[in-house]
Amino acid sequence: MSKLKLAVIVGSTRDGRFAEKPAEWIADLARTQGDFSVEVLDLKDYPMGFYGDPATSETETETAANWKRKIREFDAYVFTAAEYNHAPTAVLKNAIDHGEWIKKPAGFVGYGGVGGARAVEQLRQIAVEMQMASVKTGVHILWPDYLPVAKGETSLSDLAHLNEAGETMLDQLAWWGKALRAARQSEEQSSLAKAS
Ligand SMILES: Cc1cc2nc3c(=O)[nH]c(=O)nc-3n(C[C@H](O)[C@H](O)[C@H](O)COP(=O)(O)O)c2cc1C
Repeated sequence: MSKLKLAVIVGSTRDGRFAEKPAEWIADLARTQGDFSVEVLDLKDYPMGFYGDPATSETETETAANWKRKIREFDAYVFTAAEYNHAPTAVLKNAIDHGEWIKKPAGFVGYGGVGGARAVEQLRQIAVEMQMASVKTGVHILWPDYLPVAKGETSLSDLAHLNEAGETMLDQLAWWGKALRAARQSEEQSSLAKAS
């Protein structure tokens, strides 16, 4: 069986962002896990206009179309979830609005004062509306872990409890990823058979 294509989406574009650390860490963990071929997608590389904004330039519209096309390639997603004012970043919400995620699983790596828990819970609600299947386990990097990692005193891969949470989340993502890929393929074959 071919590997599941997993996109790790870097959910903040702030200069000096923390987001790159959890993105790289979970991408490495997913490569080790074995079920996934992994690509990190950085929203800095996809400067899109706000969804539906008439002021959007032609370049931004093209970028949004490229983003949507790119997103369709994957079988599963992990989002890094920063928390600003108890909510996900606007740039990530906008990227989700622009994408197509139907019948694919999603996991979240949150960080901040309470491990990004409030942002992740909002993202789970958005995921349902976008027809993603959110897996149960999330990774939450709480402040006492966030600070030493942000200061470069330690790295996420050194923290056993986070590795354990990440592995559990990835195992769930692999299970749902395989199940949903098989279901999508079977659905596609049925509609081809009906059409012929
Ligand atoms: C305007 C502002 C609001 C913030 N609100 C929250 C918050 O509600 N909860 C939280 O845990 N952290 C909050 N933070 C801290 C961010 O989570 C922290 O800066 C984090 O590194 C942001 O992610 P990023 O560095 O990947 O952009 C806030 C920071 C700023 C500047």
